[in-house]
Amino acid sequence: MADCRIVTVFAAKGGCGKTTVATNLATVLHDRGAYRVCLLDLDLEFGDAASVLGLRPERSMVDALVMDRLTPATVASLMTNYLPGFDCLLAPTRPGEARLIPAALVSRLLAVLPIAYDFVVVDTPSHFTPHVLAALDAADHQILVTTPERPALKNLRGTLDMLDLLPYDRAARSIVINRSDPGSDLPDEFLDALVRSPIAGRLPAWDDVPASINRGEPLAAAQPDHAVSLAIRQLAAALLQDGRCSRDPPTG
Ligand SMILES: Nc1ncnc2c1ncn2[C@@H]1O[C@H](COP(=O)(O)OP(=O)(O)O)[C@@H](O)[C@H]1O
Ligand SMILES: [Mg+2]
Repeated sequence: MADCRIVTVFAAKGGCGKTTVATNLATVLHDRGAYRVCLLDLDLEFGDAASVLGLRPERSMVDALVMDRLTPATVASLMTNYLPGFDCLLAPTRPGEARLIPAALVSRLLAVLPIAYDFVVVDTPSHFTPHVLAALDAADHQILVTTPERPALKNLRGTLDMLDLLPYDRAARSIVINRSDPGSDLPDEFLDALVRSPIAGRLPAWDDVPASINRGEPLAAAQPDHAVSLAIRQLAAALLQDGRCSRDPPTG
């Protein structure tokens, strides 16, 4: 069994593309069934991973509340299956249920999920919550998403300042600029001055992304050679170069 790698995708600003990155990255890491992947939706109030994947939620994290013990077997019963080897642990379906989920449950889940999956990709809400911090703590790699506009970049810098206060390894963190457009992006020197941290990847702005969300199929699956899919693959490849995230040969 491969060691699991937990990848937490975060942005302090809504609409930057966390769910887009998380669902497409999970698709690329799944590699058409070569690896077992779990997508964990921690956007507890308004999680939309299920909707982006065209899934009807069968179960959610709420079902874990009645479990005495979390084991690979009991956690398996919480999953909504998307594809063979690709499961989703979904956010509560009713926003009011979010407050029922303690942050400690996230830590407990992230301690067990790596036993059953090669990769766990965590999607998050747009604000720091104890649940997000639990997922950042457990992550082998953190992906911070931003768009290339000044306010989002400033928020990203604020997020980095906060994360730098915590005992996280900066080498295990990637900054991704989503909806990049050479015609309107800030020149590199302005961007570098605002972010003051290396940029690991850029995902181009492309209408095919919202179209794929409306079809309920990640672009990386529907159009693997699309520029956005290629950028996600590059991101996955860079991530896998991080020793903590390198993967074993496929199982089976
Ligand atoms: N690279 C892109 N090009 C064009 N539209 C994008 C791109 N990435 C995301 N979007 C759109 O931006 C919106 C927000 O993306 P989403 O992934 O839901 O953000 P978040 O999860 O951070 O709130 C969605 O409507 C999505 O279709
Ligand atoms: Mg989202």
